[in-house]
Amino acid sequence: MIRIGNLHKRYKKVIALNGLNLDIPAGSFFGLLGPNGAGKTTIVNILTTLTRPDSGRVTVNGFDVVKEPIRAKLEIGVVPQSINLDMELSARENLFIHGLLYGMSQKDIRQEGERMLSFVGLEECADRPVKDFSGGMKRRLMIARALMHSPRVVFLDEPTVGLDVTTRRKLWELLKKINQEGATILLTTHYIEEAEALCDMVGIIDFGKLIALGSPKTLIQRVGPIVVEQMAEDGIRTHFFSNRKEATSFIERLKGSALIREANLEDVFLELTGRRVNQ
Ligand SMILES: Nc1ncnc2c1ncn2[C@@H]1O[C@H](COP(=O)(O)OP(=O)(O)O)[C@@H](O)[C@H]1O
Ligand SMILES: [Mg+2]
Repeated sequence: MIRIGNLHKRYKKVIALNGLNLDIPAGSFFGLLGPNGAGKTTIVNILTTLTRPDSGRVTVNGFDVVKEPIRAKLEIGVVPQSINLDMELSARENLFIHGLLYGMSQKDIRQEGERMLSFVGLEECADRPVKDFSGGMKRRLMIARALMHSPRVVFLDEPTVGLDVTTRRKLWELLKKINQEGATILLTTHYIEEAEALCDMVGIIDFGKLIALGSPKTLIQRVGPIVVEQMAEDGIRTHFFSNRKEATSFIERLKGSALIREANLEDVFLELTGRRVNQ
């Protein structure tokens, strides 16, 4: 269980988090969705004890990340936004060092290391230097490393940025498996499809505040599940409807061209903020 209460963080003039409140139940696959600069990485950095909040309270499985950082850290596995593997070392060596830092015994490191290499499908190239790995392989190794000490909560900060569609889908399967095996997952993303495909709960964040919370389905239902995009002179106008029948009769009355489709989380964001997530 993750509890975030009235969290504030500013960097000089920039307010990164502006009174964020959020509870994430154990076992969930939670997605923090928001545009670049919304404050997602700041949240992950605070949750993983890398950044100190200005005020507010954050606990992970009951451990306060400011007051008991070392204890809290044992509960947590992190896959940071930027790749921070040791490029000169092999995959196996990267995992070994992580195990040592977390105080694992040599036996556990060997055992878990092998289990994790096979879990992410890197056993064949475990002894190759990481600098020869593709982007997808590096991500998988970062996931293996995050799981080495059997954390109950796993944070992934934009884990699929820069990956091609096939690699991204493979990674999604891996993440689903981690969640099915019992870990709570908090993933940040600015990819709408990623949040919709993976998350049972989504928190939409904008300017350091939570502006919506719910399952993707509930959030989409709330704006109206059917969308009509009207091609107007000044650009595309979006209209929301509760069913296809209403949408179709609206289109019949319209002059000019229009498109009918199902709503998605991008529409939810647009309806709440007047902007798009990925502009
Ligand atoms: N170390 C820092 N120094 C100054 N400003 C920062 C720093 N880290 C983040 N920010 C600012 O805080 C805001 C939130 O950033 P971040 O949490 O990285 O957002 P996201 O991960 O959603 O893109 C942005 O305006 C960003 O420019
Ligand atoms: Mg970020």
